[in-house]
Amino acid sequence: MRAVVYEGVGRVAVHSVPDPRLEEPTDAIVRVTTSAICGSDLHFLHGKAPLDPGETIGHEAVGVVEAVGPEIERFRPGDRVVVAFDVVCGRCWFCRRGETHLCEEFRNLGAGIFGGGLGGAQAELVRVPYADTNLLAVPPELDDERALFLGDTLTTGYYAAAISGVRPGEVVAVVGAGPVGFFCIQAVRAQGASEVLALDREPDRLALAERAGGAAIDVSRQHPHTAVAERTGDRGADVVLEAVGSPSAFATALDVVRRGGRVTVVGMYTGESELVPLGGWWTRALDIRFAGICPVHAWWERALEELLAGRMDPLPIVSHRLPLDRAAEGYALFDSHRATKVLLVP
Ligand SMILES: NC(=O)c1ccc[n+]([C@@H]2O[C@H](COP(=O)([O-])OP(=O)(O)OC[C@H]3O[C@@H](n4cnc5c(N)ncnc54)[C@H](O)[C@@H]3O)[C@@H](O)[C@H]2O)c1
Ligand SMILES: [Zn+2]
Ligand SMILES: [Zn+2]
Repeated sequence: MRAVVYEGVGRVAVHSVPDPRLEEPTDAIVRVTTSAICGSDLHFLHGKAPLDPGETIGHEAVGVVEAVGPEIERFRPGDRVVVAFDVVCGRCWFCRRGETHLCEEFRNLGAGIFGGGLGGAQAELVRVPYADTNLLAVPPELDDERALFLGDTLTTGYYAAAISGVRPGEVVAVVGAGPVGFFCIQAVRAQGASEVLALDREPDRLALAERAGGAAIDVSRQHPHTAVAERTGDRGADVVLEAVGSPSAFATALDVVRRGGRVTVVGMYTGESELVPLGGWWTRALDIRFAGICPVHAWWERALEELLAGRMDPLPIVSHRLPLDRAAEGYALFDSHRATKVLLVP
């Protein structure tokens, strides 16, 4: 089959690789109809997250079940499904509590050996272990392009908003208006935030944030602290969602939250570290929460309801639909922010 292969820092290409096959009785093979490039794939592209050259990449996909192992109960060949980007067992202590991102057997699609050695989803076929847990049936009324986002970014935005406990009337700042930030804005809007401030420096992304109901703040033109203070009676935002995954964005989040406010960090970190001003954060009585990897399995049915009700909709961010063979071009477009979201069609 054809699949996107990581070739080294800054380089991906489409190659022929062996087809995945059923390895365990709880596996399924899914024929991918659409996959996407995620901000997390860029961390691999940049070498921030480790991936060996020659590994296949990608973890956002929707498709049709091609084959199932003998222990699969919920799916049959021909079923339309979304794939969870995090692959979990569904039965350990953490999974049973809905904390599937902390699973004893946690693995990630398309993350190489450190992700558990599973193949990538930017491919014609993908192997999904524990498929009864890691696939979601797509209702007939939902098209592939919308359904795709339930397996990662849309559900991640919904989860980040939900664990932040946004209450009606609160002012929420979202740092980073990429796909994850866009869904954070839609989700906090749906949860009753009175005002959402979207901080980014890319005009296209800020325009999309406005379409989702955010007020755009261009941090290349305005100091984030001043801009948020001006809109919150000098207090700062009640809740801040950090949807970038960089020390500077984390610093911005801490800079724009009010005393006694909440910060939820949904952007991804790997080896970074920072000095923590314990006294400053303690005195400001901050509530800082690391979202970690989104436990999509515990949240995707609730996110599906938002999608079906039209309160969340991914289509405005899809700027490019490319054949899988043009994946390298898709990565270049997304990495340089000339694309807001790239779909790859095998
Ligand atoms: N927790 C999870 O499970 C999960 C799931 C998906 C993605 N992520 C992570 O979320 C982050 C965002 O993903 P994405 O797909 O939206 O990525 P993206 O790279 O497309 O978007 C990031 C956005 O942040 C903006 N930005 C960069 N630095 C900034 C700063 N200092 N201040 C304000 N804006 C800044 C960029 O212009 C860009 O628009 C990534 O770190 C990704 O790995 C986490
Ligand atoms: Zn992702
Ligand atoms: Zn588990």
